[in-house]
Amino acid sequence: MDDGDALPAKEPQKKPFSGPSSASAYLDPLYWDERFRSEEHYEWFKDYSHFQHLIQRHIEPASSVLELGCGNSQLCEELHKDGITNITCIDLSAVAVENMEKRLATNGFKDIKVLVADMLDLPFGDEYFDVVIEKGTMDVLFVDSGDPWNPHHETVDKVKAMLHEVHRVLKPGGIFISISFGQPHFRRPLFEDPELTWSFEWSTFGDGFHYFFYVLQKGKRSKETCKSNSDRLALPSFSLLHEELENEDYIFRTNVEELDT
Ligand SMILES: C[S@@+](CC[C@H](N)C(=O)[O-])C[C@H]1O[C@@H](n2cnc3c(N)ncnc32)[C@H](O)[C@@H]1O
Repeated sequence: MDDGDALPAKEPQKKPFSGPSSASAYLDPLYWDERFRSEEHYEWFKDYSHFQHLIQRHIEPASSVLELGCGNSQLCEELHKDGITNITCIDLSAVAVENMEKRLATNGFKDIKVLVADMLDLPFGDEYFDVVIEKGTMDVLFVDSGDPWNPHHETVDKVKAMLHEVHRVLKPGGIFISISFGQPHFRRPLFEDPELTWSFEWSTFGDGFHYFFYVLQKGKRSKETCKSNSDRLALPSFSLLHEELENEDYIFRTNVEELDT
């Protein structure tokens, strides 16, 4: 067969968008169970290749890592392939956990631990992990938050509970990596809870639309937090967001934070 006859390379298929009827469903564990019964893989936001360079700056191969809300993402496998092998994944959905256990066993990642747990009430002792990471999981707590400048107190209470738990299970000097749609001017007041001791830094990745990569290091809070970054980025236009963001990510974002362009 010459080049002219070659079939075009097949793009990996994503499940077509079929989001829930209301964004508040993302807060319902039954929604996730139902979804994971039929969905094999959906990578929220972007896959590992887009932020690998940022991860490598912050996670040592010997680090113990906790991933919050793993869903059916391939993040833990990608970290493992990069030599970070001491990984524990949690998810509130028992279906996600069962499927993940099967997939990891089939793919030969038998040392990655997976368990059903709530990130608002983590079943680990204090100062247990070097790194806690989440991608799109904290954003779920914001889907019903109302005005992003003044979120409902229920949202704030849940986010605070989660952040306090993450802070508690981190070792001194350990880091929390949060990969999010949420912009720094909305996230900073929550991350900089006076009871938490971590520093606050962020960078972005992605083409067109930028996702946020937050790094919070326990015990490293300083008065000079991130003065070099302006918290308010110029957002791409509404139409660019439509084109750039893939289906459900777009819907999810409009519910996480109202577009303010
Ligand atoms: C938007 S998906 C992100 C999945 C995955 N992190 C990714 O990047 O593709 C949110 C995930 O968080 C899980 N989740 C929601 N609330 C949770 C909670 N309180 N504790 C642990 N996991 C939770 C859901 O079951 C779902 O798997």
